[in-house]
Amino acid sequence: MPAKEKIRLDKIFSESNLLSRSETKAAAKKGRITVNGITVKSAEEKVNETDVITLDGVPIIRRRFFYIMMNKPEGYVCSTDDPASKTVLELLEDRDRPADIFPAGRLDKDTVGFLLLTNDGNLAHALLSPKKHAEKTYLFKCVKPLSPQDTARLERGVPLDGAITKPARITCEGCSGTITLTEGKFHQIKRMFGFVGNEIIYLKRISFGGILLDDKLEEGGYRYITENELKILKNHV
Ligand code: URA
Repeated sequence: MPAKEKIRLDKIFSESNLLSRSETKAAAKKGRITVNGITVKSAEEKVNETDVITLDGVPIIRRRFFYIMMNKPEGYVCSTDDPASKTVLELLEDRDRPADIFPAGRLDKDTVGFLLLTNDGNLAHALLSPKKHAEKTYLFKCVKPLSPQDTARLERGVPLDGAITKPARITCEGCSGTITLTEGKFHQIKRMFGFVGNEIIYLKRISFGGILLDDKLEEGGYRYITENELKILKNHV
């Protein structure tokens, strides 16, 4: 059997959400990290899967987190399992689909665009928490031109599920535009437009948590988010 590839310490620490690469470098320099009982001074040191790593004397739990940006196509549901419909997980190659990955939030079956898939429950929870106000921007098309009055009404907030929706930002020309929300109630945009007597006929999420959908991704395509994008997501919440 081929030997498993060795991995750099700074990669292990950052993928496990323990320390960033630069923090791992500093921790190693200070002698805070050991591998199999021996202090290592370089974060670039490579280790095997079975090597025991400690930080400040405590063995670390290694964990690989997946953060995938998908351009969700129409016709797929955002759940891990559905007896009646295709799920977004079916679009992932086996190697990109650990057992615990899930879509962070829901887009309707007919909505397209930016969907984050991850197995980092803490980050997903923070991004979806109503308290953290993560921003989501959508391109929309509606059946009737949106009047300035309706735009102002939607931006101020409309009654939904017994509360007033949080302030939104809208840019609109005629029947299409963008809307930015900081919450994500069930069918929120469709119901908000319904409240002002309009109807959404196309919805595409183009940004989430401060990062933009990669316009090179075709519908159904996906890629891993970059370290910089991950930093932006984490700082956003
Ligand atoms: N609002 C909706 O109505 N649908 C979505 O998929 C997302 C936001």
